Amino acid sequence: MNEKQRLESQQVQAQDSTDKKSGKDYSKYFEAVYMPPSLKEAKKRGKEEVAYHNDFGIPEELLGMGKGRKFYIRTYGCQMNEHDTEVLAGIFMQLGFEPTDSKETADVILLNTCAIRENAEDKVFGELGHLKPLKKERPDLLIGVCGCMSQEESVVNRILQKHHFVDMIFGTHNIHRLPQILNEAYLSKEMVVEVWSKEGDVIENLPRVRKGNIKGWVNIMYGCDKFCTYCIVPYTRGKERSRRPEEIIQEVRHLAAQGYQEITLLGQNVNAYGKDFPDMEYGLGHLMDELRKIDIPRIRFTTSHPRDFDDYLIEVLAKGGNLLDHIHLPVQSGSSEVLKLMARKYSREHYLELVRKIKEAMPNASLTTDIIVGFPNETEEQFEETLSLYREVEFDSAYTFIYSPREGTPAAKMEDNIPMEVKKERLQRLNSVVNEISAKKLKEYEGKIVEVLVEGESKNNPEVLAGYTSKSKLVNFRAPKSAIGKIVKVKVVKAKTWTLDGEMVEETVEVK
Ligand code: SAH
Ligand code: SF4
Ligand code: F3S
Repeated sequence: MNEKQRLESQQVQAQDSTDKKSGKDYSKYFEAVYMPPSLKEAKKRGKEEVAYHNDFGIPEELLGMGKGRKFYIRTYGCQMNEHDTEVLAGIFMQLGFEPTDSKETADVILLNTCAIRENAEDKVFGELGHLKPLKKERPDLLIGVCGCMSQEESVVNRILQKHHFVDMIFGTHNIHRLPQILNEAYLSKEMVVEVWSKEGDVIENLPRVRKGNIKGWVNIMYGCDKFCTYCIVPYTRGKERSRRPEEIIQEVRHLAAQGYQEITLLGQNVNAYGKDFPDMEYGLGHLMDELRKIDIPRIRFTTSHPRDFDDYLIEVLAKGGNLLDHIHLPVQSGSSEVLKLMARKYSREHYLELVRKIKEAMPNASLTTDIIVGFPNETEEQFEETLSLYREVEFDSAYTFIYSPREGTPAAKMEDNIPMEVKKERLQRLNSVVNEISAKKLKEYEGKIVEVLVEGESKNNPEVLAGYTSKSKLVNFRAPKSAIGKIVKVKVVKAKTWTLDGEMVEETVEVK
């Protein structure tokens, strides 16, 4: 469990983000921009087939645009957004820009935003406040907002009204248009807004600059059609659409050839992979069965939805090898009634049965989860069902959140009679169970030997190396720097609150 995440989730405040007070009519402004977002449009799910594009290219006249210029991207939110940042960076590099890690030296600053909870959005508006003086000092600096928040009408209106110094806003479907958007922003005095509220296509040949060369992300699908009643993602990311297996296999092979040690397959609901293929019956199980034959030590995926987790996938995962037996399986609540209101489309019993099947097939599997407390009108009994489910499953850890109403979602319209104080108290009670079980699970590692993918020096001590086990436990240990990028055996000496301390086991030692 991430300490920062818990603190964040305790700071949720209910607040209306629309600008009813101003009474200003922004419709005229939208005549000057490309396209404003619309949540209503974003909700539509048509029958058209997904269009695949392989024709991304930068117009010749824009190719030198970045010469002598630097870009800086700040990323918020999930791994999907982090991976989008890798694509944005790839496009910047193709345009001739250089990366920088300081805002002060950047010529273009992009905020790749997250809309999942109110406090995620507050952080971005806070950062925009900090950027204002920078823009005043250097009027040539371009400031852009992209990612999930740009897909929300209320956010775009608020930026138009209160943050005039922003030069560009573009959405999650418009990343490939970065060259044109930058060009327009350089030429125009108006704010450039380009947000397509469409269902989404798949664009295959986008450039990428990956963060690091040990672990890589690979999108297997985009969007989400689940429409859980609390969640903004289906509106910000468009409809579910899968990449073709051959494209994914090729990308993973390519990463393996480059020496990557671990791949994380990405999607908001990876278990729905392939359901949109009109021409074949092919799901995540089939894909994993092919990927496990590739010579790469570790393959994981995120995020799983319990509803679509099928028996064939369990059968394939049980084959082990490079398919890791750590499954992140968000449950959200332990109460069937709350799950129904959340439109999760499974019950407590169904979830527990799925866990039983997974553990039967993979006795050493570890499970982690996401939980929301304080969903509208959640009763004390319903909350206690979450606690009891948590104890029953014995998750290794969990991300826990206080429910945050998102404008435009069905849950935001539900009347809610649970005071924030009660929600905060529930979050604390849940966290103490989460911490208790995590500590117990970590303790079990003491004296055991684990395989660690060494990622680099520990943040707190450059003498110490740090890496993750196949079950995502962070291990700190002393070893030569040559171990970085490799999987080594480490004996766990001590379990700390969130991490393990160990000693590298000399693999070369021979018993005579
Ligand atoms: N697609 C993934 C998760 C996406 S968002 C899934 O379905 O599991 C990550 C987590 O944020 C969710 O699992 C949920 O626990 C939390 N979350 C989403 N919307 C939220 C909201 N409105 N308020 C509080 N937490 C939320
Ligand atoms: Fe949101 Fe539900 Fe989709 Fe996950 S499955 S992204 S929680 S709507
Ligand atoms: Fe946030 Fe968008 Fe990811 S809302 S969690 S960045 S899909």
